Amino acid sequence: MRQEPEALLFELSKPGRRGVEFPCCDVPESNPFDSIDPKLLRHSTTLPELAEPAVIRHFTRLSQRNYSIDSGFYPLGSCTMKYNPRLHEDAARLSGFARLHPYAPTQLAQGALQVIYEMQYILSEIAGMDACTLQPAAGAHGELLGLMLIKAFHQNRGNGHTKTTILVPEAAHGTNPASAARCGYKTVSVQSDARGRVDVAHLRTVLDESCAGLMLTNPNTLGLFEYSINEISELVHETGGLMYCDGANMNALVGRARPGDMGFDVMHFNLHKTFSSPHGGGGPGSGPVAVKKALEPFLPVPMVIKLADDSFAFDSNRPFSIGKIHSYYGSFMAFLRAYLFILYYGKENLAQIAENAVLNANYVRVALQPYIDSAYDEICMHECVMSAKRQKRHNGIRAIDIAKRLMDYGYHPPTVYFPLIAPEALMIEPTETESKETLDEFISAMRSIMLEAAEQPELLRNAPTVTPVRRLDEKNASKDVRWICGPNCETV
Ligand SMILES: Cc1ncc(COP(=O)(O)O)c(C=O)c1O
Repeated sequence: MRQEPEALLFELSKPGRRGVEFPCCDVPESNPFDSIDPKLLRHSTTLPELAEPAVIRHFTRLSQRNYSIDSGFYPLGSCTMKYNPRLHEDAARLSGFARLHPYAPTQLAQGALQVIYEMQYILSEIAGMDACTLQPAAGAHGELLGLMLIKAFHQNRGNGHTKTTILVPEAAHGTNPASAARCGYKTVSVQSDARGRVDVAHLRTVLDESCAGLMLTNPNTLGLFEYSINEISELVHETGGLMYCDGANMNALVGRARPGDMGFDVMHFNLHKTFSSPHGGGGPGSGPVAVKKALEPFLPVPMVIKLADDSFAFDSNRPFSIGKIHSYYGSFMAFLRAYLFILYYGKENLAQIAENAVLNANYVRVALQPYIDSAYDEICMHECVMSAKRQKRHNGIRAIDIAKRLMDYGYHPPTVYFPLIAPEALMIEPTETESKETLDEFISAMRSIMLEAAEQPELLRNAPTVTPVRRLDEKNASKDVRWICGPNCETV
């Protein structure tokens, strides 16, 4: 059944309703406005007046309208929406962690410092690198730090002024060129070949002495492994450039292969993807950066070190450090959950994550292929990219129509139109935490939608039909924002 849009608290307001009753005033009453310069006074704000149950019900209803990994399958490609185990949530709420003040003296914070120290080591090991900082707040923040480290490295060698470009394959996530530009680099795009990989012949033509580094996601954003990675690393290193690994897709590799062994010099993790800390509506995430020895001196301060007496301490005495990249020491609760997730699997079993993630993606890909084409018809890694080009050619049904219809079937849609080089892309990432039954139900929903696409395409064109809002104006929803702040307020 179609749900009506939620009334605003302002619309529910009834004059005189209250959530709390204050005791009678037992001191002489005064008007607070008398003591404030009238020039500084704002116009009176019209706040809604409601009883507490109405407010609680309003927000609870709203929260239930959010789709979440706890309410259903969330195959949002490139985002690795995996289930967050409750055990780790409980541990993160232990008061010794949750109530620890960031300025607590280190002797009272030894447990937390040990978590950080061990996590620096564990992530270095998983990455095949030599050192790691946990400070960055998300993947894109990690990219920025990684590039700052690359810059510091070249500057320290006296060739900062000649190393001016960062190469970015055209399939890259948008944050890659954005981070490079933010760091003051010129970005140069590298084309993909017919199999969706870096076109090594094109790479050779754009690679020269100005190359400070190449940013590469492996597996790439099409969910395909870059088989030429060793050759690519060698070519970049020959020019004196460094290899940056966008580790957002580590779910396909963790425990099985290490970016450090593929020639990468620096990489970021998205802990909120690979190691199951919540994405949290855009934050707080965590994007630790692991590096090879040559970049270690430039890592941000402080690092956590182990002293001779086995206690832990912050080390800020690092003369080549680029400085700080986050207040205190990053999103501690995010890496605490990730630490527990890794310990829960243990070193021996970590590879199961990647194995099952890849198996699930290929199961979905093969089952869907009779109904919708794969963008690249071959074994994928942790996500598969399907393409609605057949449906578009047949009767104009596009990826967006399929995605919207999936909402009517109760699913969060996959990522659409990314990467840009795959026409009518639907990028499906099941993750390892979903069962065969869940995947089968999703496949069955997709199969029904593909039949509808052929026989009743209007059902797709008019979807979604059961959501609080119907099809939005995709472009103007973000470009032409109208704020509505209450009954008497103007729209902006
Ligand atoms: C391949 C890739 N790189 C980088 C990022 C940016 O990571 P974050 O959202 O944590 O900033 C993402 C996010 O989805 C991604 O998929």
